[in-house]
Amino acid sequence: MSDQDRRFDPKNHASLSSAGREARWQPARLLGSLGIQPSQAVLDMGCGPGFWTLPLAEIVGAEGIVWALDVSPEMLDALAQRHPPAQVHALLSELPRINLPDASVDWIWGAFVVHEVGSLADLVKEMRRVLRPGGRIGVLDWRPDAVHDDGPPRHHRLDPETIRRALREGGFRLLPTAWEHEDAYLILAVLE
Ligand SMILES: C[S@@+](CC[C@H](N)C(=O)[O-])C[C@H]1O[C@@H](n2cnc3c(N)ncnc32)[C@H](O)[C@@H]1O
Repeated sequence: MSDQDRRFDPKNHASLSSAGREARWQPARLLGSLGIQPSQAVLDMGCGPGFWTLPLAEIVGAEGIVWALDVSPEMLDALAQRHPPAQVHALLSELPRINLPDASVDWIWGAFVVHEVGSLADLVKEMRRVLRPGGRIGVLDWRPDAVHDDGPPRHHRLDPETIRRALREGGFRLLPTAWEHEDAYLILAVLE
């Protein structure tokens, strides 16, 4: 299966900004619990039309930066149409490649994207390269055993242990999280 077969169809981008989704994932609340600080530089991998990008911009404020990375120009256009604040910078890049300099971000956030990227080991290597020492990662993705039937086909999803193992092998230390959801998992890690 190619990466493209797993990729979210950008024609359906409006569904990523729905009120129902807001109620389900509560992005401001979830991101607000992670400890991201004002003035930090955050990378939003697979940002889509900005469901997580905009609350991230609120948290880091005008002195911070949010790199909104996506492979789809259509998704980045949809983000631009939402008039994000100046600290949001769109970045057209195809993961696992992250088109940023070494040691340039404090946090990497990736929601519902890691299962769409072919090489997990290469992605972990890139995340390590662009993070500053002590930088952190948050990965939110679909549970293969989710209660509800929406989301990507179950055979496209990644077992959370696969991601945890790749992060440990890539030099990250896993961090505890109390966040739980019947349809998704959250993985937090710090670069050692
Ligand atoms: C399911 S959407 C999630 C969007 C957003 N994170 C959210 O939760 O609203 C996945 C996003 O990742 C992007 N994406 C998929 N594969 C990618 C890749 N290899 N490189 C960069 N972006 C990718 C898609 O274009 C899409 O915008």
